[in-house]
Amino acid sequence: MTIVAMACKNNNEISAENYKDDNITSKIDSLLKLMTIEEKVGQMNQYNGFWDLTGPSPKGGTAAKKYEHLRKGWVGSMLNVRGVEQVRAVQKIAVEESRLGIPLIIGFDVIHGYKTLSPIPLAESASWDLEAIEQSSRIAAIEASSVGINWTFAPMIDIGRDARWGRVMEGAGEDPYLGSLIAKARIKGFQGDDLSSVNTIAATAKHFAGYGFSEAGREYNTVDIGTSTLHNVVLPPFKAAVDADVKTVMNSFNEINGVPVTGSPYLQRDILKGEWNFNGFVISDWASIREMISWGHAKNKSEAAKIAVTAGSDMDMEGYVYIEELAQLVKDDVIKEDLLDDAVRRILRVKFELGLFDDPYRYCDEVREKEMIGHPKHHEAVLDMAKKSIVLLKNENNLLPLKKEGQKIALIGALASDKNSPLGSWRLASDDNTAVSVLEGMQAYKGNSLVYKKGADVSVGKTAFVEEVRINTTDKSEFQSAITAAKSADVVVMVLGEHGFQSGEARSRTNLQLPGVQQELLEAVYKVNSNIVLVLNNGRPLAVSWADAHIPAIVEAWQLGTQTGNAVAQVLYGDYNPSGKLPMTFPRGVGQVPIYYNYKNTGRPKNVEGNVFWSHYIDSENTPLYPFGHGLSYTTFEYSNLKLNGSIFNIGNDITVSVDVKNSGDRDGKEVVQLYIRDLVGSVTRPVKELKGFDLVEIKAGDTKTITFTLDKTTLGFYNNQGEYIIEPGEFKVFVGGSSAQTLEADFELD
Ligand code: NOJ
Repeated sequence: MTIVAMACKNNNEISAENYKDDNITSKIDSLLKLMTIEEKVGQMNQYNGFWDLTGPSPKGGTAAKKYEHLRKGWVGSMLNVRGVEQVRAVQKIAVEESRLGIPLIIGFDVIHGYKTLSPIPLAESASWDLEAIEQSSRIAAIEASSVGINWTFAPMIDIGRDARWGRVMEGAGEDPYLGSLIAKARIKGFQGDDLSSVNTIAATAKHFAGYGFSEAGREYNTVDIGTSTLHNVVLPPFKAAVDADVKTVMNSFNEINGVPVTGSPYLQRDILKGEWNFNGFVISDWASIREMISWGHAKNKSEAAKIAVTAGSDMDMEGYVYIEELAQLVKDDVIKEDLLDDAVRRILRVKFELGLFDDPYRYCDEVREKEMIGHPKHHEAVLDMAKKSIVLLKNENNLLPLKKEGQKIALIGALASDKNSPLGSWRLASDDNTAVSVLEGMQAYKGNSLVYKKGADVSVGKTAFVEEVRINTTDKSEFQSAITAAKSADVVVMVLGEHGFQSGEARSRTNLQLPGVQQELLEAVYKVNSNIVLVLNNGRPLAVSWADAHIPAIVEAWQLGTQTGNAVAQVLYGDYNPSGKLPMTFPRGVGQVPIYYNYKNTGRPKNVEGNVFWSHYIDSENTPLYPFGHGLSYTTFEYSNLKLNGSIFNIGNDITVSVDVKNSGDRDGKEVVQLYIRDLVGSVTRPVKELKGFDLVEIKAGDTKTITFTLDKTTLGFYNNQGEYIIEPGEFKVFVGGSSAQTLEADFELD
């Protein structure tokens, strides 16, 4: 029995048995009374483990020091400790050797799976399939919880409009409405209905807030956004996450309006914990409390600790600031102990809810670990998710699907045979080279002759977290053999794009074209055989204008995880009819970035007079290469009969919008029917289009379905510059279609 259980039994308020009841608050109060200032600070201290590293090298702690602090009860959590054996080892010290025996909460970046990887989050978001996304997070939670992990640093719900920023791969794209629904689905998947169950884990909504708006797409850079963007674009997914009962929120590395978010009372205290009533805890990002010194917001660690704790940052991730400074600040009466109590209460609550006080080893079961890791059902599910994530960008003359026999196929590109890249960049726990490659996936189809040639390399450094990614290889020595293979093929399948380590954290790019000599390879092959299917691999939108102009079929296959090759092959051969839609706009060129569908009209939106004085570029169209919501199918869908249940409505009335969607092709298929609105005049200008509903429907060949949407108070308003949600009377437009660009249109008025 741990000391905490005995101590609590003695004061008769809490016992191991009644940890199970609902009255967590009184248990926390009792426990808090037993804690010294140092032990309270300890709960607010998180250390990285001794094996993996997901940030710059630790600045303060040797392993010996970490072990010593574990024994003293000065560590509340560890990250990057995984596997039952490792977790049990550190938990044992915390529970059996420290004075109060408070269990650790064990965090890990379970971003798109643990060992069995599903597609990167941006790809999953392209499915617009909320059930599938929830299921994917569920499976990630099942695997992760079986190795001792009980807390994931996911989902990342930063809105991303700038494809230069490498972390767009980790989010749900550019739209706050879609992003909010995906945030909820992921949180539900991780946390389930009962957090204390052994196969659910606490989720983290990150990074609060604005990180996706890093200037020029450069990682960890300044963010400078206005109030309207903050409230209408950045914050809604976080609000949705809090409404979905997310247990923790991670703050972000960036500053907003000159205040590093880690030290922002406005964001953390006023909005998150005040207005939204968030009762979980806030974890800093890796050393972000200490980094306030580099930002020039705190003069030393002591000041950084004071600013962060006052602002509402509850736990310090691998920063050594709280552990070194907080206790003294309380003793010197610079900060009140109440601030610590508030943070510790929040942290303990999540530990109680996870059931860690009932049994600190509940997530440490070797039998479950063995059974769950790589379970065949998980492979089935990630394959299903991978297929749903694929977006058919272009398919001229129905080049796809490929015939199943009698064709000579040349498969070209280093990424086609790569078993590592499809795992993406967040795959710490999975084994290298464990993805099914596209080559392997296609080899399973035996009816055609298949020749594989690499053509050009996309090579990366050995250890992604330490070595620089080498994007460019100039070696063209294998071009010729690829060209020769292409010459004699009926169809050429080229798998080109970014390696999995070319997007993700600290992977910003200034160029959005195909890396290295891949564009040259594509053009060289095109000269001898234009019958090309281009399969793109990438963690961000790419500017592939040349390909769009010349290549007849383009498939967006992202990095699709463990089952990549099988998913791609099933789509190429038509055993799966693609239905994905882009969650992020693809630009024509990097100069258009940031580019997004829900832009503002400007004062000079059109060339009405034939002169130059309108909002445009002189060397590119304004329109994107592929708009948000775009994605084709092997069948076609026709939209008609857009109807509203009236034309003038009172604020507060529900507005019903219906549309007929016909599958006019000869294959069954799925379509994401999308509804957008435009509020024509607002006290704060409104975007030209805003997604406010969508429905993923399956329609049999030849059938028509009537799809109905409801617009109400929750969808017709916006946040004013005081952060208040308001609905203004006036004229609206409603658009329905299969992408943000292809839409039927109707009008209504709010009275
Ligand atoms: C830094 C990243 O920004 C964050 O998202 C991640 O969870 C932590 N490192 C821990 O790995």
